[in-house]
Amino acid sequence: MLFQSAAARSIPRVLRSSASAQARAFSSTSSSAAFQSFLGSRTALVSASALTAGSVAWYTHLYGSLPFIGEVHASAASDHGLHPTSYPWSHNGLMDSFDHSSIRRGYQVYREVCSACHSLDRIAWRNLVAVSHTADEARAMAEEVEYDDGPNDEGEMFKRPGKLADYLPAPYANEEAARAGNAGALPPDLSLIVKARHGGADYLFSLLTGYVDPPAGVEIREGLNYNPYFPGGALGMARVLFDGLVEYEDGTPATTSQMAKDVSVFLHWAAEPEHDERKKIGVKAVILMSTVFLISVYVKKFKWTVIKNRKIFYDPPKH
Ligand code: HEC
Repeated sequence: MLFQSAAARSIPRVLRSSASAQARAFSSTSSSAAFQSFLGSRTALVSASALTAGSVAWYTHLYGSLPFIGEVHASAASDHGLHPTSYPWSHNGLMDSFDHSSIRRGYQVYREVCSACHSLDRIAWRNLVAVSHTADEARAMAEEVEYDDGPNDEGEMFKRPGKLADYLPAPYANEEAARAGNAGALPPDLSLIVKARHGGADYLFSLLTGYVDPPAGVEIREGLNYNPYFPGGALGMARVLFDGLVEYEDGTPATTSQMAKDVSVFLHWAAEPEHDERKKIGVKAVILMSTVFLISVYVKKFKWTVIKNRKIFYDPPKH
């Protein structure tokens, strides 16, 4: 009711002012008629934009959000998820690639910690080659895992060591087994988790390092854990990273935050393996496009110069 009545009051006022501005513009004794009509249309455009922006701002001020536009991110304020800090990742810049030593360490953290509960279905062993491992290293890791294959000539399924084309093994055979092993909570597949959560790698890092005791007055159900970054505050995953949990082969001290950072970079790569290539192509495209643009400006000027610089004379017939 309030919205309608106030809108009814405000709309005519704005329309009136724009109409009078137009009238002023048209009635003034400016020299150019074209300029007047331009001014008139600009005023109309500006008032219409101001009216639209004003209505949107006023509606959001009254009701909080626009209708039909749902809140879809994981840490919406209404869910009480603490907004993750924005961290200065070394790959943030327009021309920065991933830190590949960090991807390699992150893979180790995933392998030794997270893979006990989380699958990484979309990553095959071959994807690691030339990213974090050499082909021989990746092949050796794949061969440590047994895969089902077949049927063979007798129609039997058989086991064989993994090869580069195989996908990373999942810890559970199916969703039911995963839930049964985690008190009913399903550990999500981590392949695309960085893209699937608002805040991406920032959220992941905050979540992994953000476990604290619940504040006074907050009751956490048996089997759940308090983490302010998780929407709702209580999640099925307990704190998994503790100082010195893994031993990095490159000698980096394995603190909780170091491991959280490395596994976040690794999972960011997993969700966006084209990242480095994308930025490289981006730079090439900008260089190429701006060169082509400059050439086209020159060609345009060159082609039009005869027309732009000509002068037309009227030479009346002489009697
Ligand atoms: C002991 C099993 C276990 C281990 C180990 C584990 N997780 Fe989880 N994780 C879970 C479960 C269970 C959930 C689902 C929690 C829920 O929905 O309440 C979960 C959820 C998550 C989520 C999703 C949170 C969200 O916003 O929905 C992320 C991200 C995650 N884990 C990352 C990791 C990473 C990274 C590691 C390794 C450092 C790891 N987990 C290790 C069991 C585990």
